[in-house]
Amino acid sequence: MESVSHENRLFPPTSEFVENAHISGMDAYKAMYVKSLEDPEGFWAEAAQDLHWFKPWDSVLDASNAPFYKWYDGSRTNLSYNCLDRNIEAGLGNKVAIHWEGEPGDTRELTYKQLHLEVCRFANALKARGLQKGDRVAIYLPMIPELAIAVLACARIGAVHSVIFAGFSADSIRDRVLDSETCMVITGDGGYRRGKMLELKKIVDEGVASCACVKDVIVVKRGDEHPVDCPMQDGRDSWYHELVADVSDDCTAEEMEAEDLLFLLYTSGTTGKPKGIMHTTAGYQVFSYLTSKYVFDLKADDVYWCTADVGWITGHTYIVYGILQNGVTQVMYEGAPNHPDEGRFWEIIEKYKVSIFYTAPTAIRAFMKWGDKWVTGRDLSSLRLLGTVGEPINPEAWIWYHKMIGAERCPIVDTWWQTETGGHMLTPMPGATPTKPGCATTPFFGIEPAILTDDGKEVEAGILAIKKPWPGMLRGIYGDPQRFKDTYWCKWGGKYYFPGDGARRDEHDYIWILGRVDDVVNVSGHRIGTAELESVFVEHKDVAESAVVGVPHEIKGQGLIAFVTVIEGRDHDDHLRKELIAMIDKSIGKFARPERILFSSDLPKTRSGKIMRRILRDIAEGKELGNTTTLADPGVVEELQEQFLKS
Ligand code: WTA
Repeated sequence: MESVSHENRLFPPTSEFVENAHISGMDAYKAMYVKSLEDPEGFWAEAAQDLHWFKPWDSVLDASNAPFYKWYDGSRTNLSYNCLDRNIEAGLGNKVAIHWEGEPGDTRELTYKQLHLEVCRFANALKARGLQKGDRVAIYLPMIPELAIAVLACARIGAVHSVIFAGFSADSIRDRVLDSETCMVITGDGGYRRGKMLELKKIVDEGVASCACVKDVIVVKRGDEHPVDCPMQDGRDSWYHELVADVSDDCTAEEMEAEDLLFLLYTSGTTGKPKGIMHTTAGYQVFSYLTSKYVFDLKADDVYWCTADVGWITGHTYIVYGILQNGVTQVMYEGAPNHPDEGRFWEIIEKYKVSIFYTAPTAIRAFMKWGDKWVTGRDLSSLRLLGTVGEPINPEAWIWYHKMIGAERCPIVDTWWQTETGGHMLTPMPGATPTKPGCATTPFFGIEPAILTDDGKEVEAGILAIKKPWPGMLRGIYGDPQRFKDTYWCKWGGKYYFPGDGARRDEHDYIWILGRVDDVVNVSGHRIGTAELESVFVEHKDVAESAVVGVPHEIKGQGLIAFVTVIEGRDHDDHLRKELIAMIDKSIGKFARPERILFSSDLPKTRSGKIMRRILRDIAEGKELGNTTTLADPGVVEELQEQFLKS
C-alpha cells in the first residue's frame, strides 16, 4: 500500500499549553498509556470513578463471550443523569450548557439546570405517550436544542434512540424504522439550510407511510417565522410544545444496566444495507467522558464548538454525551457554514469566544477555497485548541488551519475513529504529542493498534487492527449478530477488531491513516457504501450492472464516480443520468449523489467474472492503467477510458 504523505515536519505544543494541560508532555502520556495497557481493568475502573453509579460494577471487563464483550457488568447508571444531574449537584446548574444559534440568527441559551428541566419534561411527555424502556425511537430533527433534549430524554427513561441525519431521504427513514421496529418518530416541521426551510415532516410522512410499527409522531415547531405546511395525522401526530405543556418537571432517571442498549446509529458498510450499530450504556459513558476530557483538554472555562450534526456519531459523542458529561459550555449551530456568507463560522467563534473548535477537513478545504478574507479581521484569539475528524486531512489544509485559524498557537488534534468505536482511538494528546500535518499520530489510552497483512503479520504499512477491547466499542449490529462477527472479528480469526482502514507506521511510531481498504467511501466526511448506490442503480429498468468507486476530490476528500452498464438496445443519455440521480436522492439522500455517471457496454472483469474496481479507479482518476492482463476482455477498458475523456 502506498503512503499518502511523507510529511515529516513536527509541531510541538507551546510550553504554555503543555504546562496547563491535563496530560502534560510526552513522558506523562507514555507513562499513562503503558499503565492503561498493562492494567486495563485498573485503568478503566479509575476513569469511571469520576461518574455517578447507582450501583458499582462487579467486573470491569467480561471477555468470556468474545466478541460480545461486557464492560462494567453488574453496575447500574444513567447517562442523562451523568450529563445533567451530576453536574448540577456539583454546582454547575447555572452554567450555560448550550449557546444555540439558528441559521437565521435567532438564539437560545440553556443552562445545565434549564436543559435538565427540558429533558425531564420531555421524558415525562414520552412516558405519557406510553414509551417504555427498550423501545426504539427514531429522531429526525434539524440541529436545534430539541435534538439534544430528545436524545437525553430517551436516555433518561431507557428508550433507545436511533438518530437519522436530517439529510437522509424518506426511503432511508423507512428502512431504518423497519429494521429496528421503531414505535415513535420525533421530527420537526422544518429546519433551516442555506436560507431555505427543509420540509422534514413531509419526508417523515412519506417514510413511515408503510411502517405499521410507528404509532406516534412528535413534531417540534421550528417554522414560527416561516410557517411550513405540516399536516398532522389524527391519532398519530402530536406537537412537542403541546405535549410538554402539562407534565411534571421531575423525572427520575431510570437505573440502567451496564449493557442495556443506549442507542442505534445506522452506518454504511460494504453491502447495500446499512448496519444498525449498537452502543450500550456504561462503557460508552466512560469512554465518551474520558476521551472528551483528555483529547479536548476540557477545562471549566472552555467554550467548545463541534460543527458536526448530531445525526452522525461525532455529534452523539462529542456534542451530546462526552461534552455534557464534562460539564463544559458549548455552542450548537443549526445551519450552513456559508450562510448568510462564508464568514459565519468565524463570526460565531468571535461572538461566543470559542476556545475549542472541532470540524471536518472538508469544511477546512472549503474555507481555504473561499479565501482568507473571511477570516482576517475576525478576532479568533479565544481559540486554544483545534480538532479535525471524519477523513484524512491533507497537509496543505492542515497548515492552513494551523496558520489561519490557530495562529500557529493552537495544537491540532487529528482524531481517527468510527461510528463503531464510539470515540477517539488514534489522536494526538494536545499537551503532549508533537503533531505532523495529516497524521492521527498515537493511540488513546487503552487502545492497542497494530498494522497487519491479510494473514496477520505485523508490517509497516498494511491494514489497521485493534488488539484489545475498549469500553466504547460497538456491541453488535442490530438484529444481526452474525454480520457483526463476520464484519469486524473474522479477518484475523477473531483475535483483533478490523476497522476497515489502511495505515502506515512511521519512524516516530506514529500511525498514518491511508483511507478505507473496503468499498466504503468518505464523501465530505459522510460515510457511504458504494454497494448502496449500486443496488439503487440496478433497480432502474434500463440498467444491467453498475460499479461505483471513490476518487480523490479537492473539497470533499473523496467523490463518487459511477460506471453503469445499460441493457443492450436501451438509450443511455442525459435523461437516464437524471433519472439515476433522482433515484439516489430518493433512496439515500442528495449528499450521496455521484460526481459523474459513465455509461458503457460492459465493465472490466476478471475471467471469473469479478469486477476489477482497481482498474475503474485508475480510469476515474485518469491514471495510467496498471496490469490489465487478467481481464477477460481488455477492450472494455479502452471504451471506458474514451468515455471518461469525452464526458
Ligand atoms: C474515516 C467518523 C482519517 C475512516 C468519526 C473511518 C478518518 C471512517 C479520520 C469512519 C481521521 C475518520 N483520519 N480518516 N482523523 N476519522 N476517518 O463512522 O476511514 O462516519 O473508518 O465515523 O472515517 O467514519 P464514521
